Amino acid sequence: MKIAIAASEAAPFSKTGGLGDVMQALPEALSQIAGNTVCLFLPYYSRVKYNPAFECEFITSFAINLVWRKCHVGLFRLKSRRKKLQIYFIDNEQYFNRDGTYGYSDDGERFAYFSKAVLACMNYLDYKPDVLQCNDWQTALIPVLLRSEFKPCFPNTKCIFTIHNIEYQGWADQNFNADVLGLDGSWMDTLRYGESINFMKAAIMSADAVSTVSETYAKELQYPYFSHGMSDVLRMRADDFYGITNGIDTTVFDPNASKSLPAHYTAKTMAEGKAKNKAALQKELGLKVKADVPLYAIVSRLAGHKGIDLLCYICDKFMGMNAQLAIIGTGEAQYEHGLTALAKKYPGKMVVRLAFDPALADRVYAGADAYLMPSKSEPCGLSQLIAMHYGTIPVVHATGGLNDTVKPYDAETGEGCGFTFVRYNGEDFMDAVERSMALYNDDRAAWNALAQKDMALDVSWNAPAQKYMELFWKVIG
Ligand code: GLC
Repeated sequence: MKIAIAASEAAPFSKTGGLGDVMQALPEALSQIAGNTVCLFLPYYSRVKYNPAFECEFITSFAINLVWRKCHVGLFRLKSRRKKLQIYFIDNEQYFNRDGTYGYSDDGERFAYFSKAVLACMNYLDYKPDVLQCNDWQTALIPVLLRSEFKPCFPNTKCIFTIHNIEYQGWADQNFNADVLGLDGSWMDTLRYGESINFMKAAIMSADAVSTVSETYAKELQYPYFSHGMSDVLRMRADDFYGITNGIDTTVFDPNASKSLPAHYTAKTMAEGKAKNKAALQKELGLKVKADVPLYAIVSRLAGHKGIDLLCYICDKFMGMNAQLAIIGTGEAQYEHGLTALAKKYPGKMVVRLAFDPALADRVYAGADAYLMPSKSEPCGLSQLIAMHYGTIPVVHATGGLNDTVKPYDAETGEGCGFTFVRYNGEDFMDAVERSMALYNDDRAAWNALAQKDMALDVSWNAPAQKYMELFWKVIG
C-alpha cells in the first residue's frame, strides 16, 4: 500500500509532546510491513533545517497561492538508505523560521500553508497514495483541500484524520476562507462551526474515516464532558470513527540500551538494574539516597487535564508517608509555582524540576518505583507505557488510553498491571497511591513480579500498526 502521512511534528526532528513520539514510530512501523511504502511530510522548522545532524537533499522549489499571497515552497528529503520510508520537509522561512513551534498569532495561516504545500508536493512528486493520514488540527485542512482543490490530482486517495488532542481545534474567524484558503463558497458549511471556522470540525466532516488514539477515548469523545464541543460532530461520523491505541517505539525507549541511563537492565535483571538507577537518580535530584523508600515520579506537561490539581491536593498527606516524589515538566505557572512551593516543604523527599529534558525523563522512568498519571482525560498517554516498559508501576486515573493500557492489579489473582481509580477526585487518587504503597511495603516479591510482568508486556507498535492497516484496507474498500 502507498501511504502518506502529514504531521506538524515528529521526533527526533521536532517534538513538543506525544504526537512527536507517535510520528517517529508509526510511519516507521507501517513502512516495515511488507508491500508498504510510506512518505512522511513535516515542516522544515529552522531548528531542523540548521541542525547538521539532519542531512537533507534539496528536491525542488515552487510557489503556491494562499489567495493573494504567493508563498515559497521548498521541498527537501532526509538522506536515508531506507527506501520504504521517505521523510520530506517543507521549507518556508517566513512560516517556520521561528524560535518556537506553535503559539503564534498566524498559526492558522502557517498550517493552512503547510496543508496545501503537502498536497502540492505530493503532486509534484507524482506520489498518489492509497491513503493519506493526517494528524490533529495543524493538518486538519488537508482532508478539505483533498476533496476540493486537489480532487483532480488525487481522485482515488482516501483520507484518515487522527485526533491526538481535541483541545486544540484550529479556530479562525469566518473571513479565513476568503483571506487565506480561497475555497469555493460552498465549502463554508463544512468549514464553519458556530460563528467561526473550525479546522478540526471540517476534517471530521470531510475525511473518509476519523480515528483517535485509544478505544476508550473514541467512546468518551462522543460525550460533551470530554469532547470540547465536538461530540455532536463526532456522533454524526460514529460509523466511521475508530479508536486505535498507541504503542511506543521500543528501540527509542529501551532500558537495556538507552544511552541516558547509568545502568542497563532487562526484565530478568530488573531488581538490581533499577536499584542502581534509583540510587543514581536520587543523588542527581538531591533526594535522600535510600533503597527501601518507594520513589514515585511524574514526567508531564504541567497542565490542568494532567491531574496536577489532584496531586497538589494529596501532596501533604502523601509526603507525610514514607515515600519520595520526583516531578519533571513545564507548563502552567500556577502548577509550576504550586509544586515548587510544595517541594520546598519536603527537602530530600520531594523534588520538582521545571524542565523538558528527554534524557532526564529516561533516567526517571528507569529509577522510579512507581509512576503517577492522574489525568482528568487522556487520549492515550505514552508515559504509562514507557513506565511499564521500564518496570515502573503505574498509578492512573482509569480514563481514555489509561483505561485501555493499565488494567487494575488484583492482589488475589496477580492479574492486571497497575493501580487505578475510577472517580476523578483526590481521595480516590490517594487511595490508589496507598494501595500501591502497601504492596511495595508489605510484599516486595509481589511488587517485583508485577514490575517484571509489566516489562514483558508488548507495548510496541507492532499490534497498533496492524490495526491501522486494517483500518486503511477497510477505507480503501
Ligand atoms: C497527545 C495526547 C496523548 C497521546 C499523544 C499521542 O499528546 O494528549 O494522550 O498519547 O497525543 O497520540
